[in-house]
Amino acid sequence: MAIEKKDIDWGSLTFAYTPTDFSYVCNYKDGAWGEDILTPDHTLQLSECAGIFHYCQEVFEGLKAYTTKDGDIVCFRPDANASRMADSARRICMPPFPEDRFVEAVKQVVKANLAWVPPFGSGATLYIRPFMIATGNVIGVKPATEYQFRILVTPVGPYYKGGVQPVALKVPEYDRAAPHGTGNIKAGLNYAMSLYPSVIAHAEGFADNMFLDPQTHTYVEESGGANFLLVKEDGTLVVPQSATDSILPSITRRSLVRVAEEMLGMKVEQRQVRFDEIDQFVECGMCGTAAVISPVGKVVDTEGVEHVFGAGMEHVGPVLAKLRETLTGIQAGEIEDKFGWVVKVA
Ligand code: PLP
Ligand code: COI
Repeated sequence: MAIEKKDIDWGSLTFAYTPTDFSYVCNYKDGAWGEDILTPDHTLQLSECAGIFHYCQEVFEGLKAYTTKDGDIVCFRPDANASRMADSARRICMPPFPEDRFVEAVKQVVKANLAWVPPFGSGATLYIRPFMIATGNVIGVKPATEYQFRILVTPVGPYYKGGVQPVALKVPEYDRAAPHGTGNIKAGLNYAMSLYPSVIAHAEGFADNMFLDPQTHTYVEESGGANFLLVKEDGTLVVPQSATDSILPSITRRSLVRVAEEMLGMKVEQRQVRFDEIDQFVECGMCGTAAVISPVGKVVDTEGVEHVFGAGMEHVGPVLAKLRETLTGIQAGEIEDKFGWVVKVA
């Protein structure tokens, strides 16, 4: 039986929260994860001494559910999110949620909210936000002994206004991560650190920041919520790497590297990229689950000098457009998924 979709103007959705029908909950206590619960209650009641409020034990993930051309509901590489979330949890002394249960939980919560999965071709998707918090009491600085793993889902449109319209970035005065700190995991504390430079960037009319490496401020790292992709004049894709373990290993970026090499026959260089090389690139983009591939028209450095990529703010460049079209085509079932990345939910 076809599910009756919610009456939403899918095409005008932005990247904002709308509560849906169910969230997924699982609690950790006495050294073990408990039962799966789907709840219509989108609120939490916690002790004032819960570890999340004091020492910030929180990790999260982000992935999406899509409606394919044939009307299936699918997710993209949920196993990769499961594995990254387990890495994030271990790094801040939280018990990893079992990876097979993570994938099942994603499927369960999407199935419970099918009416909220935007239709094929609408430009919107169902954003899935798994997260885990310390719920147990702690007052001395140490890991809590009780946790909650939860998944909320919410229909969303493009992360950056305009979707594929190029945006402007600035190089901020601040860092989003410490060298060899927690920049390579998906923990809320990294985003708290990036909020101040992000508010400044927005107030100055920029869509986001281009953070440089926190040790020497000479290498390109990532933005507040996405990794960078750069394209050289000869079409080579250049993917910045971190010398200080402070870039989040984006699943979108790792997927695009394989698409570029194995499907599009492109040359790919994964290496550290000095900011003073930036003028050699003809395209720049931010890639991530929320960002998909969002083109960057220009970046303004700390001296106020503008660095314009190719067509600048006019339109997305041809290489990033092709990569975007191929990735979204795989996710929407329009292009064969030779990697086995697309997981059917319903
Ligand atoms: N970098 C940061 C800081 C992010 O928040 C995200 C979003 O998840 C990404 C990169 C992109 O990662 P992914 O492609 O796995 O969504
Ligand atoms: C995602 O792309 O899923 C993220 O978590 C990025 C966030 C800044 C919205």
